[in-house]
Parts: sequence; C-alpha cells; structure tokens
Amino acid sequence: MRELSAEQKNKITSLLEQMTIEEKIGQLNQISPSIVGGFDVSFEELIEMMTDGRISKEEFGRIMAGARQDYHDDVNRAGGLSSVLSSDPEVCNQLQKIAVEETRLGIPLIFGFDVIHGFRTVVPIALAEAGTFEPELMEKSARIAAKESRASGISWHFSPMVDISRDARWGRISEGPGEDPYLASVFARAKVRGQQGDDRDPSGYVASCLKHYVAYGACESGRDYNTVSMAKSMLHNAYLPPFKAAVEEGAATVMASFNDLNGVPCTMNEYTLRTVLREKYGFDGFVVSDANAIKECIIHGYAQDEADAAEKALNAGMDMDMGTWIYSHQLKKAVEEGRVPMERLDDAVRRILQVKMWLSLFDKPYVTEEEIHRYDVLPQEHLDHALEAAEKSIVLLKNEKGLLPLKKDQKISLIGALAAEKEEVLGSWAMSGRASDCVTIQQGLMNAGADFSYYPCCTPESEIDEKETDAAIAAGDILVAVVGEYASMSGEASSRADIILPGKQRELLEKLVASGKPVVALLMNGRPLALPWESEHIPAIVECWHLGIQMGNAVARVLFGEVNPGGKLTCTFPSASGQCPMYYNAPKTGRPGSRSKFTSRYLDVPSAPLYPFGFGLSYTTFEYGDLAVEQTADTLAVSVTLKNTGDVAGSEVVQLYMHDVAASLVRPAKELKGFRKVTLEPGESRKVTVALPKEQMGFYDDDMEYHLEDGAFILYMGGNSRDCLSETVTVKF
Ligand code: GLC
Repeated sequence: MRELSAEQKNKITSLLEQMTIEEKIGQLNQISPSIVGGFDVSFEELIEMMTDGRISKEEFGRIMAGARQDYHDDVNRAGGLSSVLSSDPEVCNQLQKIAVEETRLGIPLIFGFDVIHGFRTVVPIALAEAGTFEPELMEKSARIAAKESRASGISWHFSPMVDISRDARWGRISEGPGEDPYLASVFARAKVRGQQGDDRDPSGYVASCLKHYVAYGACESGRDYNTVSMAKSMLHNAYLPPFKAAVEEGAATVMASFNDLNGVPCTMNEYTLRTVLREKYGFDGFVVSDANAIKECIIHGYAQDEADAAEKALNAGMDMDMGTWIYSHQLKKAVEEGRVPMERLDDAVRRILQVKMWLSLFDKPYVTEEEIHRYDVLPQEHLDHALEAAEKSIVLLKNEKGLLPLKKDQKISLIGALAAEKEEVLGSWAMSGRASDCVTIQQGLMNAGADFSYYPCCTPESEIDEKETDAAIAAGDILVAVVGEYASMSGEASSRADIILPGKQRELLEKLVASGKPVVALLMNGRPLALPWESEHIPAIVECWHLGIQMGNAVARVLFGEVNPGGKLTCTFPSASGQCPMYYNAPKTGRPGSRSKFTSRYLDVPSAPLYPFGFGLSYTTFEYGDLAVEQTADTLAVSVTLKNTGDVAGSEVVQLYMHDVAASLVRPAKELKGFRKVTLEPGESRKVTVALPKEQMGFYDDDMEYHLEDGAFILYMGGNSRDCLSETVTVKF
C-alpha cells in the first residue's frame, strides 16, 4: 500500500477530530444485507433447510427471489456503516450515495467481495494455479480480477487465501496455494502485486486481504473450523511465512481466521494480531474478522458475552467487525467505561480511513454506467489469459505407453457428467463467474474438432447408468472418463473424511477398464484424492482440477498435444485418507517410514504418498545431471544440467530443496528453497542455476528468534520433491 500524501494524512486527522464516538464505531462495522420477507424463518435456518435437504436448491432460489435485502439504509445514513459485502454495482452506488451525500462527514463505504480466483474471468483454483510455478501468471490473474471487480464497485478482495494446508480432508485446501511455505509466499506476493500494484489508476487496483490469519489449514482432523494446536516454531516456520511475505509486499488488510490457536481464538489473539503482525511484521493496514467470528468467540468459550467479546477483540487488535453488529452495540459503553482505550478505537478507525483514502474512494466513490458494462463481454486478452492459466495448471500424473496425446481421428467416448456441467469448471468461491462464459470439457472437445460421442453415465453422487456405460464402451476406441468432485465438495464447510472418488465413480472406471479398451481419466477435483486402484489400473491420468472458464479448451489442447502439460502438484496425494495430514516437508523422525516393521509406517498402506509435492510429468522426458554447489559469502548457487531427452518441446520446473542435517530443532526432511521453470527443445541441454541466499537457510524457534546454525546441509535438485540429485555441503554463517 503506497504511503499517503501529507495532505491525505491531514484529511484523515481532521476527520478523526470531527468524528463522534458513534461515527468512529460506525467505521468498524461491516455488514451483509439482511434477508427479510418471503419466508417466516431466519435466513440461517433457511440455509440449514437447504443444506439438509428439507427444501431444494430450486425452492431456496424461488424464496430468495421473493425476499427483500435490507441494507440498513438508516444506519448508513447515520454514519453507522463502513463496509458492505456486495458485488452488485447498482446496489454499491445506491449505498455509496447515502454514505457520501447524506451522512454528516461523507466518509465513503468500501465494498468487499470474495474474489478468490477471478471475478468474471474465473481462472483455476489457487491449488491448481500455484502449480504453474509462474508468479507473473498468478499476478496477471489478480490484476485482471482487480480491474473487472473494480468496475463493479468492488475495491476490496477477500483474497489471497494463503493458508498452508497439509490435510486433503479439509475442503478449503482448494482455495490456497497448497502445502509449501516457499511456494505459498511466492503466490502471496504475486497476488498482492496483481491486486494492489497498479495503484495510480483507481480502475486498476483493489485492496488485498490476507486470509485466514492464521493456521486455519491445520484444523484438527481436517474438519473445517476445528481447533488448532501447534508449537510457535511450527507457526513461524510453516504457517506464517506467506503472511509475512505478503505484508512485506504491502498488503492493505488481513482477515483473522475462525479457529482457536493454542486455546485463543484468532479473532482476538493478541499474540498473532499484535505481537507478530504489528510489532514483528510492521503491518500498518487493518484487520477484519471473518464472518460472525467475533460472536463465535462466545461459543468458543473465550468471551463471556457480547460486551466481553467486543472488548477483547478490539483490545487484541481486531479493527473491523464482519457481520455481527457487536462493535456497533457494545463498543461505546466499553470506551465510556474505560475497558477499551479511546486511542485504540482511534487507531482502528485511522487504519480503515487510510485504506479508503489509498483506494481513492474519497475522490471516486461511484462506478459509472460505462464501467458497469465494461466487462459484459470479456476482452480477448482476459480469455487468452484464462486459457493460458488453465493449460499451465494441468498436471500429467500418469501416461503409460504414451497413450497421450490422443489423435483427432481416434474415436473417443467421452464419459462422466462432470464433462458437461458448465458451472462445475468454476470451482469453489466463484459466485461472480457466469455460466455463459464457461467452456466445459465436452464443449472443448467440440471446439477442437474431436471425433467423440458423449455419455454422462454417472455423476459424483449418482448410481451408474449401466445401459449408457455399455453404449459408451461399445462406441469408442478410447474411453475418456471425467471423474472427480462437484465444486461444492471443496471450499468452505466441505471437509471429506474419505478422500476417494465420491459416489460410484471408481466402479464406473472399473467397468471401463474391464472392457479392455484404453482408458484416460481426467480428474476434476478441489483437493488431493486417494486413488490407489486408479493409479495402478488406469494407463493415463490427468489432474485437471477446476480450471475456470476456459477449462474445456485447455483440457482439449492438452489431450491432443497442442499443449505439452507442465503443471506440478502443490500438495501431496496420499494413497489413503488415513494418511492425512500428509506433506513432503515433514521431519524425518528417528525411524523414517520404510518396509521394515519398526519404522514410522502403516501396516495396511505404503508409507510413501501416491504422488509427491512438486510432481508432474510431461509428453517429453527430462534428465538431470552434474549437480554442483558453489558457495559465496552470502549465497549458495546450486546448478544442474537439464536435458530434454524426448522428442517434443516441454517445460520443466527445476526445484531446489534443502535439508538442515542437524539443528537445535529438528528440521524437515526437505524444504523448497527455490525453483526455475525452463522450456527446452527436444535434445536441448541447459545449465540451470538456483541461488539460495544463506539468510534463507534458517528457522525460527518458539520465541520467534531466527537461527542460522553452522553445519552440514543437503541440497537437492529435481523435478519433484522425491526424485532429486543431492549434494551435502558444510555452511558457515
Ligand atoms: C466466509 C469465509 C471467508 C470469506 C467471508 C466473507 O465465511 O470464511 O473466507 O471471505 O466469509 O464471505
């Protein structure tokens, strides 16, 4: 976030001096519209009724269509609102008009929305896009989303979500950049640059919101919202790095997470909100709670009541209250009674006003008709970017006997309902995406001129249509099955205890394989899946994730070899749910898992993952050689010779890992410390060097002290976290 001018700072100081305590507290209040009328139960009850099937989604939609949304205009007019969740530009302008023209001080509202992986131009889910290992591409996705959403009145994205997640059971793994702190930090920086970087033109930037702060992805047993306990050293070495990186990049806001951390809810956790975020990281933006989270601290058993919750949250460093009205109802009394110091209230208000000022909301509070319709038809540049992001996010997991790429004249049976369901390509958290912009895999094959017929056969929740399956088997020379999860099976409140293919999709694949015809599995999913049978019996498996609006075209271009896949996994694929949490950067233990009995292993499944972090094949092959390490005073230059030993051009992500052999805390067996993505022609060799600054070879202890300890380090270079060349060096810091 750029430094404000002296004039801007003075304006904020002047506003603060004029504000009544009610107006100050109003600046800490963020709301969603209340849904009123059309039904005689509470909105939350209505959601429950749909969730548990008492009413259908269609019925819910009909009820909502008849309901009215109350935006609390009177509260707004009295200066009691600061921010509203909305993506409707007409609504934004209406509410803004009240705030700017009818309140005493005319302080504009800031409109926030969940723009997680695109606004209209929906790109791959973060778990996929981070696997491109291309920060410029990640940045461009965020820049496009900023422009498209700003034209709708949204100037604050509740993203990037940078929760490290090591447990595939957790549905929200889909929303973030995976299990590795280094890659997640690269992703976080790129997103903040994309959202905030173009901050000279109010149509081109938005405020970032780093979430969910912090360690939400470590929820016990992968169950969303569940409790989190971990050593502070683990917090600093694994879960905080992407937040630290994004704060250094200038992120304007942070959203606290629902979970309690070592017994204290993150919504009112003084250690994380003040000691770490403000004092250690120097964060000068504002913090917003997650939805309803201040009230939920009572349920956590940490706040006695709403008065206590308001006092604890504000004093801990929570600036803005999302959705509970507790600050509005409780803070005035807390300040009058001295339980909340006025200067803490002023600090929170100042930070919020600074972000609004930096966003140019005082100068340009409204969106114009031209802006509102600017992206009714998406620019070709945005479509091209969505296609590129989708293609580069695809991970080739298996390709026996070079079954792929396919030939256009092969007679294909395309199988699986997911292949034709438009909005499923959007993945979780893409409410602003439009079905009319979505290209399904079926449509993508049509666009590619493929010779195929389509058979739904089975959804992730249905029985198998036997007749249709028999027809599909009879019709095609090759059977291409699209299997996986509905978008709603990952994302918030979507943990799965058993991460196998849902429904009868495994049985469907067994039928296809039993036919003796070659089978290709295209996975559409929002988390790693446990695919032990599939990985053994299916000759070609492509991880296609939920790739956004250009999914169908990207998959078709990879399927027919117009694009050589180069994506890598950002998260470990276990072979069984019982292995979760499973991640590559774990300590070795004293008995690393192996085939011998008395080691860290299971009796019933292998110790190794099905597919490791960083893994991804290509239509060509690569050979690594000549690992060399050169030390200078402050850097290790680690290089390999990479050769394209196949017969097509391809890209490879050369990954550098490190292991600190002996340290004052046990360290992970491997830690990603750098990467280079290179494209080589057939037969081409290239020396690839990754520089590792020595200051990045350390770790934090429980007291947040950073240790660089002399000794032996093993350096690894390879195309994934398992298959690497290595060299041991001694380093003195
Ligand atoms: C949700 C999510 C958070 C989102 C917020 C606003 O509960 O946890 O990621 O930004 O509410 O929609």
